Amino acid sequence: MNDPLTFIIFGATGDLYQNKLSVALWNLFSLGFLSTEFRVVGFARRPMTHGEFQNFTRHTILRKTKNIDQNKLEDFLKCFTYIQGDLENFQSFQNLGRELMEEDARIGFCTNKLFYLAVPPTLYASTFKNIAGAGLTVPCAPSVKSRANAWTRVLVEKPFGKDITEAKRLDKMLGELFEESQIFRIDHYLAKETMQNLLTFRFSNGVFESLWNNKNIEHVRIIFHEKNVPEDTLAKRGALYDGIGALRDVGQNHMLQMLALIAMENPKIMNAENIQDARSKVLEKVSLLNKYSLLRAQYKGYLSEPNIKNDSTTETFFRVILGINNKRWRGVPFEMESGKALNKEEMSIEVFFKKSSLPLMKDSHAEGNQNVLKFIIQPNEGIKFRFWFKRPGFDFTLVPQELSFNYSDILISNNKPEKLHDAYERVLYDCILGDQTLFTNTKEIMAEWKLVTDIIKLWQEIPLIVYKKGSVAEDIK
Ligand code: BG6
Repeated sequence: MNDPLTFIIFGATGDLYQNKLSVALWNLFSLGFLSTEFRVVGFARRPMTHGEFQNFTRHTILRKTKNIDQNKLEDFLKCFTYIQGDLENFQSFQNLGRELMEEDARIGFCTNKLFYLAVPPTLYASTFKNIAGAGLTVPCAPSVKSRANAWTRVLVEKPFGKDITEAKRLDKMLGELFEESQIFRIDHYLAKETMQNLLTFRFSNGVFESLWNNKNIEHVRIIFHEKNVPEDTLAKRGALYDGIGALRDVGQNHMLQMLALIAMENPKIMNAENIQDARSKVLEKVSLLNKYSLLRAQYKGYLSEPNIKNDSTTETFFRVILGINNKRWRGVPFEMESGKALNKEEMSIEVFFKKSSLPLMKDSHAEGNQNVLKFIIQPNEGIKFRFWFKRPGFDFTLVPQELSFNYSDILISNNKPEKLHDAYERVLYDCILGDQTLFTNTKEIMAEWKLVTDIIKLWQEIPLIVYKKGSVAEDIK
């Protein structure tokens, strides 16, 4: 962890850097998780001096963080430099290579290098080619004193491609230019604490695992409801979001990974290879269960948002019902539903157990003795279990009750509430360690894209529904 390290961030003036990466780097630094010899090289098209980039970064961090130790922040910012460049221009990468080499020579060490592609997917291919063309897939030029085990890694954001054909093309190119151990394909949902706990919950609590199959589970519902409206996201990301839409933006990646963690087999050993393999095996068995249940919709007013084409048919909401063709899950519907501009935010997974076939009470509750286990990924992170209870009294009336656990209850230290680490801190930290468990491999990405590409083909045949901003998801039909 203490080896000299250089982060090279492509797209260093963009949304992701401003909202997530700069703050994640700061948090890792202030917690002492970064090497004392660390540097950040920002790379983007906008002309900026090193000082201006440091100011820019200072501003983004102060905007998002309270009670900062100012001296520590200044020490942190001293490690930031900037290079103006164009990702499609090879010369820019030669300049970058020269700067990196000079800096390594100055400190007298070959530093580890981490390239972060915080740029639109349309620029991936040229960036990969130029990194490799400029000789940056190896950590150092021969003139710099080399260090055994020095490494170069590349972090790639989602969406990785736009459909199965493009994903395959990009993956082939990546595979030719880098070793698999150098490639970190990000799905930041995997790095959320609540997602990691899905595995712990399932495989460390035998009582549930024995019920985890089509004999006992009726259906599973995965939701990704966002309240955020264009003012906060689409205005900045409009051009990027339009043409991609909800299914590719969060369905192809975050939601299918939620499904994978709920449905995968026990990896037996908790290491990257086994976990990625178990996730990919279940994803390869997923298909559309009912093509007539497909729904795609767009909120009213989307077309007049900034950067959106005025005849766009991009969906901002979708609902699909999937099935998993294996012994454990055959016949169990997995409903996935996501949308923007809804009435509330919630990302969760609900597991509905089959109703009791021998109800004790004649007049059971309308929801019929159904137990439901709910994993709340965010906000109000927690786990809830619904069970049935006889209301005290001389009659036999059933009422639902809840056993629940909230992360906030255990995140109290010295009487002060603590926060869960942001997923991007974990992404950067694990990449530095070289641990690929919370990143996706080629097989997972291909299985996800195959399914999504099939759905998108069918979509051409169904109408695009319009819904009002602030709608309740269940009302969109
Ligand atoms: C991103 C999507 O991957 O995830 C966004 O592109 C979405 O559209 C976001 O809003 C949600 O992530 P988080 O961590 O804010 O829940």
